[in-house]
Amino acid sequence: MEDLTIVNAKEVITLSGHKKPVVGKKIENLNILKNVSISVKNGKISNIGKPLKAKKTIDAKGKIVIPGFVDSHTHLVFGGNRAKEFEQRLNGKTYKEIAAAGGGIFNTVGMTRNASEKDLFETGMKRLDYALNWGTTTIEIKSGYGLNYKEEMKILRVIKKLSRQHPVEIVSTFLGAHEIPRDKDRNKYIDELIKMMPEVKKYAYFCDVFCEKGVFTKEESKKILMAAKKTGFGLKIHADELSSSGGSELAGELDAVSADHIVYPSDKGLELMKKKGIIATLLPGACLYLEHRAPAKKFIDMEIPIALGSDFNPGSSPILAMPIIISLSCILLKLTPAQALVAGTINSAYALGIGDKTGSIEVGKTADMLVLNVDSWQEIPYWLGFNPVERVVKEGKEV
Ligand code: NIG
Ligand code: FE
Repeated sequence: MEDLTIVNAKEVITLSGHKKPVVGKKIENLNILKNVSISVKNGKISNIGKPLKAKKTIDAKGKIVIPGFVDSHTHLVFGGNRAKEFEQRLNGKTYKEIAAAGGGIFNTVGMTRNASEKDLFETGMKRLDYALNWGTTTIEIKSGYGLNYKEEMKILRVIKKLSRQHPVEIVSTFLGAHEIPRDKDRNKYIDELIKMMPEVKKYAYFCDVFCEKGVFTKEESKKILMAAKKTGFGLKIHADELSSSGGSELAGELDAVSADHIVYPSDKGLELMKKKGIIATLLPGACLYLEHRAPAKKFIDMEIPIALGSDFNPGSSPILAMPIIISLSCILLKLTPAQALVAGTINSAYALGIGDKTGSIEVGKTADMLVLNVDSWQEIPYWLGFNPVERVVKEGKEV
């Protein structure tokens, strides 16, 4: 007897058969099945084909079934918000000018340090409920609004508690190198970051650095990431987001799992990313709010794998809903609906190092699936702002 079976779906968009991140022409192949039932046992997909006897049945008549969305880049744990800066920007100030005047990331660092662990946890739970309602079944969350040992650990503990208590699967990333604290010497802070890594490693799988002009230089980022690698972290980089800063090259040199943002990559960086198979994580929410465009088509043409994330944060992307991010990736970055779906599921799972466990509908994988209230999968990006997610199955249970 199976635990659950989903029957009568009009189409099942499986995205199956990809043993590594999908690139090139393969990215248009969604492996769509008709007239199949999907059965689930012990949280995993146990059968695709004939309906098996199960304790519970979901009738998906006329609906589309897809894998749960994987949001591979967020800054979800922070205090307060920056609506005032949003207003300032509409009055003509730029993101960089606001940051230089003590706003931006530092503003949120202040509000996050002032927030209690309990408050951050409660807001985090609400945000995860919202993400789940919009179909996110796996999410990456970075620290980075603490900027000292005590406060970064507070955020990382909140992330760990969220991962224990919320059904959405969380992959945790240490981004102590999000900025240099105002009251600290930069070299001292880098040494501090390296010193805290062994303890932080108990709470985070990846280490990330904001490599950018005015923040961490390529050399400083290298020092931090090399220490992280030695400590056993997987590597990620905020690379070439506001200017060409050597980030994509460094991702190649250090074999990072992904380079994220990459709006202004150098030719050398692109070549290295292609050679090493490094995933370019596209963040169309930040592209919208910061009015820039990542060269998505270039990555696809060069066969550099692409993933998608919301970049949910209070400054450059206050968007958490993956269907909206998928719409924006099509509208702003010109992905096709198929490319966007692949990027937001299986390739994002690979960007988190778990592409063998989730991100597609195939036997043996975690049963993370969505029943969508649309007639065709092309409608997912088409109805911008509409939530197509009708039912969510997370690890075999309807949530
Ligand atoms: O990914 N680039 C750095 N970090 C965030 C923005 C953080 C903020 O503005 O609070 C990003 O866009
Ligand atoms: Fe980010």
